[in-house]
Amino acid sequence: MSDTPLVPPSSVVLVSGGSRGLGLAIVTDLLDAGVKVAAFARTVTPELAKLAEAYPDRVHVGAVDVTDLPAAQAFLRAAEERLGPVDGLVNNAAVGQDSMHTHTSTADIARIVETNLTAPLHLTRLVVRRMLGGGRRGRIVNVTSICAQRGFPGLVAYSATKGGMDAATRSLARELGGRMLVNAVAPGFFASEMSAVLGSTQLDQIVRRTPTGHLTEPDEVVPVVRMLLREHTNINGQVIVVDGAASV
Ligand SMILES: NC(=O)c1ccc[n+]([C@@H]2O[C@H](COP(=O)([O-])OP(=O)(O)OC[C@H]3O[C@@H](n4cnc5c(N)ncnc54)[C@H](OP(=O)(O)O)[C@@H]3O)[C@@H](O)[C@H]2O)c1
Repeated sequence: MSDTPLVPPSSVVLVSGGSRGLGLAIVTDLLDAGVKVAAFARTVTPELAKLAEAYPDRVHVGAVDVTDLPAAQAFLRAAEERLGPVDGLVNNAAVGQDSMHTHTSTADIARIVETNLTAPLHLTRLVVRRMLGGGRRGRIVNVTSICAQRGFPGLVAYSATKGGMDAATRSLARELGGRMLVNAVAPGFFASEMSAVLGSTQLDQIVRRTPTGHLTEPDEVVPVVRMLLREHTNINGQVIVVDGAASV
C-alpha cells in the first residue's frame, strides 16, 4: 500500500434533487448499500417520504430549494445532527431546458445557471468546508451530462452549466490534494420528467446512434455513482460518461 492518504467510503451522503428520477434512484441504491442518506428537493414526493418512513434512522429528507443557500445550510446541519457528519455529496439537482438560445429569456438563462451551476458550487463549498473543518475526508460526485461534451440544439444554457461542473470537478480534485475524491458522472439521455420534453423523433435518433441500442437507464448510472462514493479506487477529477457509446 502506498503512503498516499486514503479516502474511506462515504457513509453519510447528501443527495440534492433526491425526490424523483435519477436522484431518487441514487437515494434508493445507497440505502440498499447500507448508507445513511440526506436528500432534498423543492418538493418531497410520496416516494421519497416513503423511504424516510421505511428507514427512520438512516434517512433525512426535506423540502429545500438548492438556490436558497441558508435553507441548504440549515438542512445540512439538521441532517448531520440526525445522521452524523456528512462525508459524501451528490450534486444531482438540476433543471432542464427546451428552447433555442435566441428564444430563451434572460430570466430563464439566469434560473438555469443559478440552479445547475452556482447553487452546486455553493453547496459543495459548504459541504467541503464542514468536512475539512471536522478533519474528515470525503467524496463528491457531480451529475453532469453528455451535453457538456456534445452539442444538442435547445440545450445551450443547460450544456454550459454542465460543462462548468465538469471543469469545476477537475480543479476541485486538484485543489483538495487527495483529501477528497471529486468526480463527475455524465449520463446520456434517459427517460425522466426532465427529458419528457424531447419528442419521440429525437429519442429515436439518440437510440439509433447508440451501439447498445437503448436509452440509458437510471439503473445503469447508479452503480457508477455508488462506486465513486464507496469503492476503493484512485479515480479523481474524472468525468465518467454513461451513454452506451452514443457519443463516441
Ligand atoms: N434526464 C436526462 O436525460 C439526463 C441526461 C443527462 C444528465 N441528466 C442529469 O441528471 C440529473 C437528474 O436529472 P433527472 O432527469 O432525474 O431530472 P428530474 O426527474 O427532473 O429530477 C430533478 C431533481 O432535481 C430537483 N430539483 C430541481 N430544481 C431544484 C431546486 N431548485 N432545488 C432543489 N431541487 C431541485 C427536482 O425536484 P423539485 O423539482 O421538486 O425541486 C428533482 O428531484 C440532473 O443533474 C440532470 O441534469 C439528466
